[in-house]
Amino acid sequence: MSGVHVVALGGSLLRPEEAKQRTQWFGLLRQLVVHLEGNGRRLGLVVGGGLPAREGIDLVKGMIDDRHRLDHIGIAGTRLNATVLQQLLQAVGCDVAPEVPTSVEQARYLMEQHHVVVMGGTVPGHTTDTVAVKLAAAVDARHCIIATNVAHVHSKDPRHHDDAEPISTMTLDELGAITGVGVPLEPGASAVVDPMAVAAAMEAGLDLAVLDGREVARLEAALDGQPFEGTLIRA
Ligand code: UTP
Repeated sequence: MSGVHVVALGGSLLRPEEAKQRTQWFGLLRQLVVHLEGNGRRLGLVVGGGLPAREGIDLVKGMIDDRHRLDHIGIAGTRLNATVLQQLLQAVGCDVAPEVPTSVEQARYLMEQHHVVVMGGTVPGHTTDTVAVKLAAAVDARHCIIATNVAHVHSKDPRHHDDAEPISTMTLDELGAITGVGVPLEPGASAVVDPMAVAAAMEAGLDLAVLDGREVARLEAALDGQPFEGTLIRA
């Protein structure tokens, strides 16, 4: 498929603290999707679980040992968020798939029928970053965009290290040295890129773009193949 894009949207993006910011973000994102559809582009949006996923997992953490069961709760949160976005786009007449697919194969099929497909998680053991990478590989997207709530990949976790440096270009191997490769995160845990997604990108030979999804203009630039503020990760 040509002109096809896949974006992982971190769940935290859907819930800025202030209601005004929320409305503004949803509005700008919707405008961007309408614009892309108008240009005949195909878009797969893979939405993270954010607050509802974490809230659900926290309710029973310590009472459930099996991490896959906690992952299932997380997946339910991702699908709630995906449904919010899917309905928002459907309400303005976007050609968005009427269902939220539960597998990458189903999403790939729906992307052939519709301009826009919105989905959440699929199965336990990884996050929506991994789903997005697998979907991007399945539809031959040029890269997988990971829109999150930090501006760049940093040399170290900036939440714990004041000397963490932002990186603008790097290789997947270099990213893997920071995040780890192929080791699942704890249910509901957050990382700039899921190590399982790094492994999937390596396997597919797929480039990644990590950027701050709160700034919709940066997402638009990356989708247009323009230079963008963020981190470009070459396979
Ligand atoms: P995500 O980690 O993808 O959502 O899923 P998030 O927290 O919004 O992502 P970021 O960190 O902001 O980018 C939340 C949880 O749902 C489960 C995992 O437990 C994950 O931590 N999940 C999600 C799965 O088990 N499988 C999936 O395919 C997706």
